Amino acid sequence: MCGIVGYIGYKDTKDILLNGLAKLEYRGYDSAGMAVLDEETINLFKVKGRIAALRKRTEDTGLATMGIGHTRWATHGAPSADNAHPHQSASGRFTLVHNGVIENYQELKEDYLDGVAFGSETDTEVIVQLVETNYERYQDTAEAFRQTISLLRGSYAIGLIDREDHETIYVAKNKSPLLVGLGDGFNVVTSDAMATLKETDQYLEIFDQEIVLVSRHFVEVQKLSGTVVNRQPFTAQIDVSDTEKGTYPHFMLKEIDEQPFVMRRIIQEYQDERDRLKLDQDVRNAMKACDRIYIIAAGTSYHAGLVGKQFLEKMAGIPAEVHVASEFSYNMPLLSENPLFVFISQSGETADSRSVLVKIKEMGHQALTITNVPGSTLSREADFTLHLHAGPEIAVASTKAYTAQIAVLAILAVDTARAKGMKLDFDPLQELAIVANAMEVLTDQKETIEELVRDNLGTTRNAFFIGRSSDYFVCLEGALKLKEISYIQAEGFAGGELKHGTIALIEEGTPVIALATQENVNYSIRSNVQEVAARGANDMILSMKGLEQDTDAFVVPHVHELLTPLVSVVPMQLLAYYAALHRDCDVDKPRNLAKSVTVE
Ligand code: M6R
Repeated sequence: MCGIVGYIGYKDTKDILLNGLAKLEYRGYDSAGMAVLDEETINLFKVKGRIAALRKRTEDTGLATMGIGHTRWATHGAPSADNAHPHQSASGRFTLVHNGVIENYQELKEDYLDGVAFGSETDTEVIVQLVETNYERYQDTAEAFRQTISLLRGSYAIGLIDREDHETIYVAKNKSPLLVGLGDGFNVVTSDAMATLKETDQYLEIFDQEIVLVSRHFVEVQKLSGTVVNRQPFTAQIDVSDTEKGTYPHFMLKEIDEQPFVMRRIIQEYQDERDRLKLDQDVRNAMKACDRIYIIAAGTSYHAGLVGKQFLEKMAGIPAEVHVASEFSYNMPLLSENPLFVFISQSGETADSRSVLVKIKEMGHQALTITNVPGSTLSREADFTLHLHAGPEIAVASTKAYTAQIAVLAILAVDTARAKGMKLDFDPLQELAIVANAMEVLTDQKETIEELVRDNLGTTRNAFFIGRSSDYFVCLEGALKLKEISYIQAEGFAGGELKHGTIALIEEGTPVIALATQENVNYSIRSNVQEVAARGANDMILSMKGLEQDTDAFVVPHVHELLTPLVSVVPMQLLAYYAALHRDCDVDKPRNLAKSVTVE
């Protein structure tokens, strides 16, 4: 959460910061700010609201060639201009942006900052006030910065500028993502390479507990102890056009439409020249060697994990359990003798998942991360990575990453089964190709879904999704999509569970969306629909070709039974999209949310 961009060079900084922040807005968008250093002073701009408001606020700014900017997702202190970053020290000499949470900020305030007047309610302000206090003692900004950083507990990505130093942006990081981008006569700092791709595609990773001094012509990475670290840059493999909406009104719609293409790319990436599955031998060995898989994830990725568990158990014969990352530490199961942890995360930055990863690595276990961002924290810190190849996902509501996760999990399960010598009557690449075609048919049916929404979800305050077997998992995802972007109170239930309590909520006209793509439960889920219909529900059945009945609201093309979540979720995504549009909601940036949740 929160996005940081910094620039030091010879060009005008303002536009570089604003354009970068606009690309990072998916990380948080309740307030924004920037500080630019011109020949004389630091000019500070902060607004409640979006980057567009910041752009307006900075229209008349003069030339400045270095600066730092921030887009916020509030943790400590409400979204407001005062709480927006950058924050300044009491004298105004030091200015700082921060992403993360400083866990010991109260202690630091009491121990070191007695009598200092604070201008915000944030944990962040403590850092910049500490820099000033330490400067008074050490009379050296780099040392004051280092001393300050060594006092912090928690997560942080930090950029600091000093009014008296026109040559350096001071940078530090722990747990929260931050990169330094390298240029000719300029350098940048960014939470995500996507934000500064127009400037450079060369990036330096920064590791936890490192400090970086970023100037126009050089970048020096140091350990907290002061030891200088040599590191080679990497080339960011992102196509700038993938980060643009193009002709689409929203990223979410673009990303829904990209799903057939993503399926085909996954087929390509996981296939060798002899049409066999292509996976890293180390991953294969780890999968073969483990006696149980523990899937750790959050939100949509957790829902993909539920589907993946079925693959691993049914196809590869490995017991698997799926855990919500934020709960794992409190309810840690008894672990098997030889566990393998599989982290599923679109962003690879989810703090809840990362804290489990740190814990299980300390316990000496192996981890595989399945992510859309190979250089991300979860990818770097795990033993192995499988890439989703979905291209940047920018809408807060995850769509193409979910289907990519399920596809990669299917490939992983089949590959493991084959490595273990098991015979399977299932060719994942061929079946995924059929899925890609089916997805195309579905994304061509937007008007039908829009009509369904108009007729059935227009003014409702709640909606229920019911399904059995793997349809149930898709219902959880369908409900999450609908609630997060349309604010309709939506819940997904196992069809058989409704009558154990939730059916009490069914009133005349309550929308109940039922999924019927599984032959073995087709009869029972339709009985559950009868039960709610008898109590006045407005039922809509989404079935699969071959299992459909005349009265069904929507029929998805036939695909292999194990892969139905990949197609049945598409109308669910579109349902959520049109419901949000219909209610005039901000589809790509729903209220209170952020794309990557980098705080616990
Ligand atoms: O980046 P991750 O996959 O780890 O993110 C996990 C969740 O925060 C994410 O899936 C969230 O639930 C989505 N906004 C749902 O659309």
